[in-house]
Amino acid sequence: MPSETVKVSNTVTVDATDAMQFSTKRIEVNGGEPVTLTLNHTGTMSKDIMGHNWVLLKQGTDLEAFALDGAGAKDSNYIAAAKAESVIAATELIGGGESSTITFDAPEPGIYWFLCTFPGHYAVMKGEFVVRG
Ligand code: CO
Repeated sequence: MPSETVKVSNTVTVDATDAMQFSTKRIEVNGGEPVTLTLNHTGTMSKDIMGHNWVLLKQGTDLEAFALDGAGAKDSNYIAAAKAESVIAATELIGGGESSTITFDAPEPGIYWFLCTFPGHYAVMKGEFVVRG
């Protein structure tokens, strides 16, 4: 089942499309090491219409509430200031043809949510970020 195989690597590339999709629903990294993640917007639509970011949430964060609170926070990449403490790492919000790369320390081993915070995208654009021990 090659399509089920998840590569464990701390160098991660995620593509996001004009069809409001991430290229992966599950990312696995090794704990205790930095992670370098690149988000590529492979589409052509502007970030005002089809913006994407990649945001990693602390465990225990209510993903839906986080996304809904952020929907009005355009000036801060749709991350509500009151919920900024729930964010482990986040890329810039990008439009078609753009990329954003971030480096951060892998959090404690466990399973975390990632999402795109652009309004309405979280329902589809989310997935699991697994840190191996
Ligand atoms: Co998006």
